[in-house]
Amino acid sequence: MRLIHRVDELRAALRDARECALVPTMGNLHDGHLALIERARRHGAPVVASIFVNPLQFGAGEDFERYPRTLAQDCARLADAGTDIVFAPDVGEMYPEPQTCVVLPPLADELCGAHRPGHFQGVATVVLKLFNMVAPRYAVFGKKDYQQCFILKAMVRQFNLPIELIVVDTQRAEDGLALSSRNAYLSPAQRAEAPRLYRVLREAAAQLERGCDAAGVVAAAEAELTAHGWQVDYVAVRAQAGLQPPTPDTRELVVLAAARLGTTRLIDNVEVVLPLHAG
Ligand code: PAF
Repeated sequence: MRLIHRVDELRAALRDARECALVPTMGNLHDGHLALIERARRHGAPVVASIFVNPLQFGAGEDFERYPRTLAQDCARLADAGTDIVFAPDVGEMYPEPQTCVVLPPLADELCGAHRPGHFQGVATVVLKLFNMVAPRYAVFGKKDYQQCFILKAMVRQFNLPIELIVVDTQRAEDGLALSSRNAYLSPAQRAEAPRLYRVLREAAAQLERGCDAAGVVAAAEAELTAHGWQVDYVAVRAQAGLQPPTPDTRELVVLAAARLGTTRLIDNVEVVLPLHAG
């Protein structure tokens, strides 16, 4: 496995590869990331993992400075997982001058975007740059970042990028907590509380399946989280297609949430397909 920091070196290393698969990350890797590498390897093409803590997607007062940077440890895990190239540019290599940004559709200002202004613009911009640097045939992302996946798929379509974007199911701890680098911020007591987010979302999905109305389901989920010390950014029921509020006919739904335990913000989601008789 090669560790590369510069774009020109990366291009030289990939010059003879017919196609490759990219797994973009911000490092501090956990088993969720390794599942993305495993998925990327299925194509038999060289696998590039990028590690870049992207300042453009963090807002003022967010955790950009304290985001864990663990390059040596990450490289060891990536090598074990069969990664071919780790691309880890520094901020000067990624953003040598004031940056042209991707302008996104209004969905980028909803859900997580409503609470993290500019976040998805930062994500889309760095991912587009990574796509241009690596020129992958496949790019693999985790479903925990549901809205991110949706926005990036739309970007790939709308910019006609010749890339297949693959979404891998969320990897979870035994108690259901979605794996996330930010879980490391949780105190032992918060870590014990954290799996409630997934339980609440699953219960919300079950209520929707039983025909309960979305507004009531959302209110109950928010109340349960708040009662246990969470600050809820949002709980929302959206249509899987379009990620807009569902109409009475929408059967393929997703319940999404973002909520904070202390200063740690966690996100999760559960998809649900309503049976024909519901509603
Ligand atoms: O999901 C992430 O870790 C980041 O948003 C990504 C896609 C690597 C872009 O910085």
